[in-house]
Amino acid sequence: MSNGPVLAIENLRTYFFSRSKQAFIRSVDGVTLHIEKGKTLGIVGESGSGKSVTALSTMGLISAEPGVIIGKIGLKTETVQKNLLRDLKDHVKINMSTGRIMSVYKDSLGWQKKINRLMKGIRGKEIAMIFQNPKLSMNPFSSIGKQIAESILLNTSISNRNEAKDKAIYWLEQVKMDSPRLRYYNNPYGLSGGMCQRAMIAMALSSEPSLLIADEPTTGLDATIQSKIVDLLAHLKTSFGVTTMLISHDIDVIKSLSDNVAVMYGGTVLEHGPARTILTSDYKYKHPYTAALLSSIPSQEHIREKKKLQVIEGDVLDTINIPDGCRFFERCNKVTDKIKEQCEHTEPDLREVFPGHKVRCFRFFRT
Ligand SMILES: Nc1ncnc2c1ncn2[C@@H]1O[C@H](COP(=O)(O)OP(=O)(O)OP(=O)(O)O)[C@@H](O)[C@H]1O
Ligand SMILES: [Mg+2]
Repeated sequence: MSNGPVLAIENLRTYFFSRSKQAFIRSVDGVTLHIEKGKTLGIVGESGSGKSVTALSTMGLISAEPGVIIGKIGLKTETVQKNLLRDLKDHVKINMSTGRIMSVYKDSLGWQKKINRLMKGIRGKEIAMIFQNPKLSMNPFSSIGKQIAESILLNTSISNRNEAKDKAIYWLEQVKMDSPRLRYYNNPYGLSGGMCQRAMIAMALSSEPSLLIADEPTTGLDATIQSKIVDLLAHLKTSFGVTTMLISHDIDVIKSLSDNVAVMYGGTVLEHGPARTILTSDYKYKHPYTAALLSSIPSQEHIREKKKLQVIEGDVLDTINIPDGCRFFERCNKVTDKIKEQCEHTEPDLREVFPGHKVRCFRFFRT
């Protein structure tokens, strides 16, 4: 495989039409990010910033009527190199005025067929996903072992049922399930939340995916179980080096597992760079939103240094009426007279301000 990121998303836009408001919700509105082979990209941002919609777009799971996805989702693995949105636009007619989508006509059947074709051999095989609620994501009527074995038969070169069973048990061992041979026969509802999450991780890894997407994998589990799942994910990262998109509200989870971090706000990425600099409070090139976010979320650092949590003043961005200027302008406490005019009227680019570190803020460059 040639070099380059496994996942490279460029200017992704995923909009949903709200019938009640007769307007487009711009859930994802210009997301650009990339994940290098074997690395973990942590995605953070307030609720509603578009993290899950970015993940679901990557999995080809956006089907809301009439949802729109434009941009590029480049996937490059040992066997596949393609834009997961290729030619989807042929099934959509978008009327734009002054850069805004005014109306959309979508050939839904053609769209769905094209997505299914584009995602064939990708979803569940090249890209696997683990969600917040494992019990809802697994079939309640079948044993976890059988489900993992089915996934192995479907997504790997193994075609013998006994071999698939042995491999499923191997993966249950890898996720440190107690008594994997017995657990093989448990249905999801016969397991605790933590054990069920382990089973879902085993199922995701069993297809040996090139990209793993984990959307809030520890949320909803109690604290001790959470830290065990984080330890497990860290162990799996060193053992198997799976390229991972990790979405979490928990800064400590992001810190423990991420190599790089993307900070999302109002459907876009405001900062993208190495975890060690983005998550350090005194880094010079920090976006004001990242700084505010880090001081508003509880973390081990807050507890250790007895720091007070800050509130990010103002409301989360209304993604129907996105302003022309910087999305964070109304809430930003770092606007100076020198850049105010620009911040208010022009959206800054996501620009490299230090090798490998991009920020969307006029404090660090001018247009
Ligand atoms: N199917 C849909 N139809 C309409 N709007 C949607 C749909 N899915 C998501 N949205 C809206 O898109 C925005 C982004 O949602 P998303 O779920 O990606 O946020 P998030 O960053 O994952 O938030 P959280 O941290 O709470 O999980 C929200 O305003 C949400 O209400
Ligand atoms: Mg979410």
